[in-house]
Amino acid sequence: MDISGKIAIVSGAAAGIGRATAVALAKAGAKGVVIIDIDDTGMAETKKAVEANGAEGLVINADVTKQADLENIYTETDSWFGQIDIVFNNAGIVSGPPPYPDSSLERIKLVIDIDLIAVIQSSTLAIRYMRDHGGGVIVNTASTGALNPLPSDAQYAASKAGVLHFGTSCESFAEEYGVRVNTVCPGVTETAILEKTGGGKRPDWLGPILENIKVLQPEDIADVVLNIIHDDSMAGQHVVVENEARAGAS
Ligand SMILES: NC(=O)c1ccc[n+]([C@@H]2O[C@H](COP(=O)([O-])OP(=O)(O)OC[C@H]3O[C@@H](n4cnc5c(N)ncnc54)[C@H](O)[C@@H]3O)[C@@H](O)[C@H]2O)c1
Repeated sequence: MDISGKIAIVSGAAAGIGRATAVALAKAGAKGVVIIDIDDTGMAETKKAVEANGAEGLVINADVTKQADLENIYTETDSWFGQIDIVFNNAGIVSGPPPYPDSSLERIKLVIDIDLIAVIQSSTLAIRYMRDHGGGVIVNTASTGALNPLPSDAQYAASKAGVLHFGTSCESFAEEYGVRVNTVCPGVTETAILEKTGGGKRPDWLGPILENIKVLQPEDIADVVLNIIHDDSMAGQHVVVENEARAGAS
């Protein structure tokens, strides 16, 4: 898909990978970027950055775990811009301390709600809208944790594996409805989520991992998301963005 003139919805856009992708979409010529998050201050900063790069930014405060909020994103975007071409379902959290298996049941459910159920619910609204309006592209954020064991946050890894296989299962919608659903699996990326993982500081279990790898930047993931949007042959696929090993790492 050629991004120029298109309208894109980006969740988790107040920070990190979501903000970098919102800005990259503006740079690629998107007409409008809809900035979804629960962090008003961060969303206002993203809107500024999007508009500095030539697209109109529409901020919608939405908690992706609430169905009414999700539905409002689609009705408000349609009534404001009259089109929805691209959806990047990217909002996410990690479990934080204590590590699994000591995570509370409440936290386990919240992680699954935000990281998996909200992705499926938002994708469902997007697929139905795009099916009725000539097609579109959906990219969902999973993680390399979808493919590798992550014992200290097993519910996060399980949610992300669910996101990946949800995308795989949507492959045929490209041919049936003109809607391409794909998944990006970032490796460890320099965002605030790394601090949130440890409840304000990086957790001990992440230390040895970080010693051996080069951490990715949010812009690296945004580049991959834009490539997926551009590549009309991609449907039901996932792209893994690996961390390179640090020189001299064991
Ligand atoms: N940073 C990494 O190392 C890494 C690696 C793999 C995957 N990911 C995934 O990338 C995505 C983006 O994370 P990030 O690293 O940019 O972290 P981040 O914390 O910078 O951004 C996540 C955003 O999601 C928002 N959010 C959280 N709960 C929400 C809710 N209920 N409704 C709406 N918005 C909500 C937050 O406010 C935040 O702005 C997440 O899905 C994360 O799991 C991150």
